[in-house]
Amino acid sequence: MDSWSEKSASKNIGLRGFEIIDKAKQRLEDSCRGVVSCADILVFAARDATQILLNANYGYIEFNVESGRLDSKVSFKDQVDSSLPAPEDNLEQLKNLFLSKKDITVQDLVVLSGAHTFGQSHCSSIKDRIYPSISDTLNERYGYYLRTRCPQYVPFDGVVDLDARTPYKLDSVYYQNVKNLTALFFSDWSMLTGADTLPFVNE
Ligand code: HEM
Ligand SMILES: *[C@@H]1O[C@H](CO)[C@@H](O)[C@H](O)[C@H]1NC(C)=O
Repeated sequence: MDSWSEKSASKNIGLRGFEIIDKAKQRLEDSCRGVVSCADILVFAARDATQILLNANYGYIEFNVESGRLDSKVSFKDQVDSSLPAPEDNLEQLKNLFLSKKDITVQDLVVLSGAHTFGQSHCSSIKDRIYPSISDTLNERYGYYLRTRCPQYVPFDGVVDLDARTPYKLDSVYYQNVKNLTALFFSDWSMLTGADTLPFVNE
């Protein structure tokens, strides 16, 4: 991995599963060279993973995604740091990033954040919420639970589930977590603070 590439950006610390994309890309290159971009493979993989998870809980739901996005020939980590949100961002910062730069609506912001119903985070992304004290924006019991998962003085960066109640389900429990102050990131909590975002959290 090159030291200036997107993969090496600090905000991409949690990215994993590259081997899946690489494998699909290899097989496509073997049969039709230079036709399907990694960007498209990523979108298809996200669609398939989502459908598999939905099938397990809600029966068969089919949806389409768009294709035709090309890969860049270079990538720069500086662009990642300036265009991805941070877990400690407040609502104003999230809106600035999504609404102005990416043409995404307030509703999209709340809906997309629902992806935090699944997956894991490194402890380093949330330690400021539990040390030295448990944040007011966090359910106290949940805060103490997080301390057991993320001890303060350890030489490794552990991981914790984003959705403590149903970590492997694609469901709406994430939004219940947000309301219960048991969502993992400050950015998740911050959607309670907007008169324009709160109705979508409730919905
Ligand atoms: C609203 C602003 C967002 C912020 C601040 C944010 C922040 C984060 C952070 C800090 C992590 C954990 C990284 C780590 O420590 O390893 C994470 C994980 C994750 N995020 Fe977000 N995120 C946001 C929006 C999104 C969106 C829009 C999606 C997808 C539609 C998404 C999907 C995920 C998933 C699936 C994981 C878990 C990854 C894994 O298990 O490896 N997030 N997010
Ligand atoms: C709210 O958070 C507390 C503390 O973690 C937990 O015991 C409780 O089950 C949660 N309730 C809901 C409805 O999520």
